[in-house]
Amino acid sequence: MRKFSLIVAALLVAALATPVLAGPIVLKFSHVVAVDTPKGQAAEYFKKLVEERSHGEIKVEVYPNSSLFNDKDVMIPLMTNSVQMAAPSFSKFTKFAPQVQLFDLPFLFNDSDHLHRVCTGEVGQKILNVVGKKGLVGLSFWDNGFKQLSANKPILNPEDAAGVKFRIMSSKVLEEQFHAVHANPQVLPFSEVYSALQQGVVDACENPLSNFYTKKFFEVQKDLTLSNHGYLGYLVVTNKIFWNKLSDTQKEVIKTAMAEATVYGNDLALKMADSYLQKVKDSGKTTVHTLTADQRLAWKTQMLTIYPKFYNVIGKDLIDGALAN
Ligand code: LMR
Repeated sequence: MRKFSLIVAALLVAALATPVLAGPIVLKFSHVVAVDTPKGQAAEYFKKLVEERSHGEIKVEVYPNSSLFNDKDVMIPLMTNSVQMAAPSFSKFTKFAPQVQLFDLPFLFNDSDHLHRVCTGEVGQKILNVVGKKGLVGLSFWDNGFKQLSANKPILNPEDAAGVKFRIMSSKVLEEQFHAVHANPQVLPFSEVYSALQQGVVDACENPLSNFYTKKFFEVQKDLTLSNHGYLGYLVVTNKIFWNKLSDTQKEVIKTAMAEATVYGNDLALKMADSYLQKVKDSGKTTVHTLTADQRLAWKTQMLTIYPKFYNVIGKDLIDGALAN
């Protein structure tokens, strides 16, 4: 953590010393998913709105598919202004804002309305404040969807997960979630998941349907269980070096474009989930399983046992606040 802070400090000095050149302001937006996902489409829509409304003053360059950075590596360039915007999934904030892992807690949200109440309420504001203390500006929460479990065998009861190697995002909550069912979690960047599944480095993973389909995980996972056991969404962030150099008018253009892109992307996330599921089924490569109420309850009971481990890390007030929303 100290090494991380020293690197950021050194790069910050260099970034602040860089002379401002004439020409449009370039906003590099780095993300890791495919263009035809809710996040990919929301980023493209944001670009269109900002470029139109700033009359060419701001040029938005969107880099999808980890083509510029993967989510883990984007944090330092983002904080030091080599990248101006990113929309990492909540888990990717673990190292420097562990409270954001709130959103990784299994079975926290009943549905997307519940999630939206949390994001737009007091808890969401507290999360934005936490990130604000780290040199970032949280601009919006973007949806993807509930996560589903996949493997090369049906995973229906918690016992089916015992000893299975699950790829996870870099989150302590996700690590504990899988330990709770005696599985073996392995952190890997999103860009490496397909080959890790193909080569048997890991056996299984958890993804929302859009990521499962657009990254073709159905080619290397024979079974998909509709478990809806956890949520994957994003916090769209810029950095203060970039933000503070913008005029009030430019900030307003970005804020309104972001608000509209959020509605656009969240709408797509809701509408597209069914079609991704149909496409997975149509591939004929993956069998889709649905949990019975009893099976789902068994997962929930076992996974909820991890909450107390995070009362001090995330904050019991945030966890209780989210549950009460
Ligand atoms: C993952 O690593 O699985 C996700 O963060 C990918 C994404 O951004 O949806």
